[in-house]
Amino acid sequence: MEAAAIVLAAGAGTRMKSKKPKVAHEMLGKPLVRWVVDAAREAGVGRIACVVGHGREQVVPLVERDTQVVVQSEQRGTADAVASCKEALAGFEGSLVVLSGDCPLITPETIRQLVKAREDAQAAVVVLTMELENPFGYGRILRDGAGHVERIVEQKDATEAEAQVRECNSGFYCFDARALFDALEKVGNDNAQGEFYLTDVLAICREAGRAVLALPTKDAAECLGVNSRVQLAQATKHAQRRINAAHMAAGVTMLDPDLVWIGPDVRLSSDVEILPGVMLMGTTSVGEDSVVGPNTRLADTQVGCGCVVDETVAVEARIDDGATCGPRAYLRPGAHLCEGAKAGTHVEIKKSTVGKGSKVPHLSYIGDCTIGEGVNIGAGSITCNYDGKRKHATTIGDGAFIGSDTMMVAPVNIGAHTVVGAGSTITRDVSEGALGIARARQTEIPGWAAKRFEAED
Ligand code: UD1
Ligand code: CA
Repeated sequence: MEAAAIVLAAGAGTRMKSKKPKVAHEMLGKPLVRWVVDAAREAGVGRIACVVGHGREQVVPLVERDTQVVVQSEQRGTADAVASCKEALAGFEGSLVVLSGDCPLITPETIRQLVKAREDAQAAVVVLTMELENPFGYGRILRDGAGHVERIVEQKDATEAEAQVRECNSGFYCFDARALFDALEKVGNDNAQGEFYLTDVLAICREAGRAVLALPTKDAAECLGVNSRVQLAQATKHAQRRINAAHMAAGVTMLDPDLVWIGPDVRLSSDVEILPGVMLMGTTSVGEDSVVGPNTRLADTQVGCGCVVDETVAVEARIDDGATCGPRAYLRPGAHLCEGAKAGTHVEIKKSTVGKGSKVPHLSYIGDCTIGEGVNIGAGSITCNYDGKRKHATTIGDGAFIGSDTMMVAPVNIGAHTVVGAGSTITRDVSEGALGIARARQTEIPGWAAKRFEAED
């Protein structure tokens, strides 16, 4: 698409009561402004300018990789914000979409529709509008006798009669770039807020004899702005429903979709089942026939097919086909369960590979460890990978059987097909095929117990 876009993200968002600028707040793990930029990208918009101001040191890192950052040093109104992009978009002609960085639910389809509507009519501007039961606070669309858009009046400038109008400005527009920048020169700030209103451009274009159109939205939720924490929760609810509905339509089962939160970049295959209390965030993906939950959080974690991931927290981990996890497992960055492997109950794994079919079933900590195939790690076994200053590695060869309550003091290598006696503290390598055992020998004193009790009488 030939279109360009401006994303307005300079406002402070005082009603959020936050140290963070509003557009940096996250919805399902993604900053609000990123939702808007990504929607524009997905719509096929080539060039995006992002206007930043308040808290820009926190906003710029979120957008600089794929937008042209424009700094609006003083927030003098939406028209001033758009005007500050004049240089960044110099030479651009055609459809210029204006989006609010605090309206994260806008869809790529709607952006495309705005552009198409403008191009079909060769209009100066098409504004997306919505009918609201309670329009208070929004700019109102004022139409003439023939039903054509005449101008927009802001809440604070509206007469009582104008305030009765329920058709509102969503804050999304597609402009003819040249008509927009020409009109901006004529926008003043003689209004209730002393601001330069972008909405005044509509009346200016109409007076210049250009077509000014309104496109009513099919879904007012798309235009929901986030100005407070309550609105953030409301927008998140809409996003959750939209995302979950799309996954269910694609063949994912959810016992209770209200209790499942899935980020926008998560991929799920068909016949995945998601149980209540699940959060899937970042670039997480789950393959066919896997069951996730209940009570599970996966971030940037890849789950294969046919896995069971029950009451698990996993961050930057990999769970290959047929592996099982939990209940109550914690996979930290770099944990990798190979095909058919298991991390069971109260098991923590960090930066370690658990080989094909290997099992860590109960109460273990495995860190900086490479476990081969077909290994069994007994209950309560631990890699002692940290000496107080540095981390050290442990290797465990194929087919090894590690008895319960084994401490593996790293760096240490336990060979393939070894057996390690339960309760051992292993401080030296165990050679392939050997028994490694390191525990106090048991002794027995016959009749000792009876004598002890006699002595007490
Ligand atoms: C604006 C519209 C209103 C519409 C509403 C929809 C104007 C004058 N009014 O009102 O008609 O119904 O959106 O939500 O445009 N911003 C800047 N720099 C500025 C001022 C604002 O970047 O100097 C950004 C804000 O961060 C925000 C967006 O522009 O992302 C909208 O500004 P805001 O002040 O929230 O406008 P509203 O009063 O909501
Ligand atoms: Ca607003």
